[in-house]
Amino acid sequence: MTTLTIRRPDDWHLHLRDGAMLKAVLPETTRHFARAIIMPNLVPPVVTAADAAAYRDRILSAKPDGSKFKPLMTLYLTEDTEVSDLRAAAEIGLITAVKLYPAGATTNSASGVRDFSKVKRVLENMAQIGLPLCVHGEVTDTEIDIFDREAVFIDRVLDPIRRDIPGLKVIMEHITTKDGVDYVRTGGDNIGGTITTHHLVINRNHILVGGIKPHYYCLPVAKREEHRLALRAAATSGEASFFLGTDSAPHIDPLKENACGCAGCFTATNTMSVLAEIFEQEDALDRLEAFTSLNGPAFYGLEPNDDTITLTRGAPVTYPDKIESGDGPVTVFDPGFPLHWQVSA
Ligand code: NCD
Ligand code: ZN
Repeated sequence: MTTLTIRRPDDWHLHLRDGAMLKAVLPETTRHFARAIIMPNLVPPVVTAADAAAYRDRILSAKPDGSKFKPLMTLYLTEDTEVSDLRAAAEIGLITAVKLYPAGATTNSASGVRDFSKVKRVLENMAQIGLPLCVHGEVTDTEIDIFDREAVFIDRVLDPIRRDIPGLKVIMEHITTKDGVDYVRTGGDNIGGTITTHHLVINRNHILVGGIKPHYYCLPVAKREEHRLALRAAATSGEASFFLGTDSAPHIDPLKENACGCAGCFTATNTMSVLAEIFEQEDALDRLEAFTSLNGPAFYGLEPNDDTITLTRGAPVTYPDKIESGDGPVTVFDPGFPLHWQVSA
């Protein structure tokens, strides 16, 4: 196979930031993607309908000319989230989902949830109106090893919430473990899982062997090889529960290459080329479209995009090592293998 035409993809988990960074990274996504679920972890976070409307407008004004990209907005769930505000935002189609960050789990998550009983009423209302919950699935307890935080979250937090409110639609985001894959796969129609591009490529050795590689550090942190293999099998399976959420998360190089480096891999620029290479390696190119363009909209109850992109296999394609952001350079994810698939819009 040397050309592959698929429905235009969507990104079901994306960080666009704000200001100069937003302007710099947005074209990297809009070049290939039609829609994206926009993460609300700005400083301060996007917590109210008014915040989401203002952020959506800033994204729309930063869009390259002629782009039809549609940002799908989310609210950042806090213990003070008001049901009436959230319901109103959902009713007018301003928001597509709500994001749950356990407090302290990752970049800009300090306003997240500490006591899950305090958000129960909000979650019940979301179940009533069919508004999905996007979950950052890691516990934050200091005594839990960072490599175990996802598996422990499933047992201690996610499964109890889902048993308590079975009607709630949940996306377990950026799953990084076999435990996450199994939980999503066996969890019925109300749970989906997003998988990032980078977690299909790297395991924890990539971060730590032969010197520390800050550009491979993200949260949830990459795990052992057996987990990466489970993620690859899930992503390339075509199963409806698994879809792409790149978690492309730009930070300027001085904040990554730092004594206390920020978490996040910036993959928007080359994601589709990297994914095509992976699906080819797994002999699953015929299932790339399900992962990037069909399963996500189906889970969210949306139509797939009606236009297409074409990927063409040829001599290795190169991407810039970094993009300039106005705030400083942002390093593009290096998969560590040549990319042969070029994307044309
Ligand atoms: C994200 C960020 O930088 O905002 N970082 C990351 O490592 N993925 C936050 C997140 O999604 O956890
Ligand atoms: Zn993220």
